[in-house]
Amino acid sequence: MTSAASPAPVLQFDERVALAVQLGLTSRPKRLPAWLFYDEAGSRLFDAITELPEYYLTRTERGILAAGASGMIADAAPGARVRITELGAGSADKTRILLKAAVARQRRVIYEPVDVSPSALRAARQRIESEIAGVTVAPRVMDYTHGDGDRLHLGPIGRDERRLVLYIGSSIGNFEPHQAARLLRRVRAGLKAGDSFLLGVDLVKDEATLLAAYDDAAGVTAAFNRNILVRLNRELDAGFDPHAFAHRAVWNRARSRIEMHLVSRKAQCVPFDALDLAVPFAAGESIHTENSYKYLPGQAEALLAAAGFAATATWTDPCCWFSVCLGVAV
Ligand code: AVJ
Repeated sequence: MTSAASPAPVLQFDERVALAVQLGLTSRPKRLPAWLFYDEAGSRLFDAITELPEYYLTRTERGILAAGASGMIADAAPGARVRITELGAGSADKTRILLKAAVARQRRVIYEPVDVSPSALRAARQRIESEIAGVTVAPRVMDYTHGDGDRLHLGPIGRDERRLVLYIGSSIGNFEPHQAARLLRRVRAGLKAGDSFLLGVDLVKDEATLLAAYDDAAGVTAAFNRNILVRLNRELDAGFDPHAFAHRAVWNRARSRIEMHLVSRKAQCVPFDALDLAVPFAAGESIHTENSYKYLPGQAEALLAAAGFAATATWTDPCCWFSVCLGVAV
């Protein structure tokens, strides 16, 4: 019998994290969702990844944007002012390229980063407003990935304005194809005809280049992958020895995706003291932590078309490693 005076147990952990672990580590094969990467340390590790020589994605997309930005803005809002909405709180210097192109064209621009994290939005606002004169940042706190409902709720815009939604950085690559299609339909449903969507996707290329990007020589991606275990140790009182798990990147050609795994180096049992859970691992058993889908030329355009956008232009790099596609809502 419990005494009526005993205090209710205080849940010290994030329910979303607990639920993801309970679900993912009791399934077969074991898996964890990729959003778990991005705690403070993980976000810093990802920034370090974007500067690695092997991680061609960021630098390639930046080059495409630098070469095409003014054309992208002009195509997105011919004869009208553009308002730039970004899914995610600012892909740093890449977003700045587009904002500068908009300011050059119309002197002032409203920039609306959309993110679940208020602190990431505050940082984006600080950074952008202090660095680019003419940009007004209007952050919107929202989980655009899990939003229930079939329409993304963006605020109203002026009659003389067109909205350009950015979804760059190959972020869409983390979604299963059917989820990606659904996200694009939800974005489209939140737009008016004539608004547009700029989508950055990583393209299929030779396997060695793909694998190196997700298994770099300096081991930064391995640390990024293992950081999930460090996070669970901290947040759920788990007992992972991160180095008892090997980082593995796999090119799954049939499904056109890079997979990241953490492979148990031995038979072991990992306790989660906050959850009253213990998870057994066989030697060689893996936790699937991420999918990063790679597109064929034309696939991003098809995805846009299926969601109600006319894919009016595509920009790429000289090697055709990355693609940036503009879809105009019809
Ligand atoms: C942030 C999802 C675009 O898939 O390339 C980088 C994440 N994972 N290295 C990607 C990531 C391992 C990245 N995205």
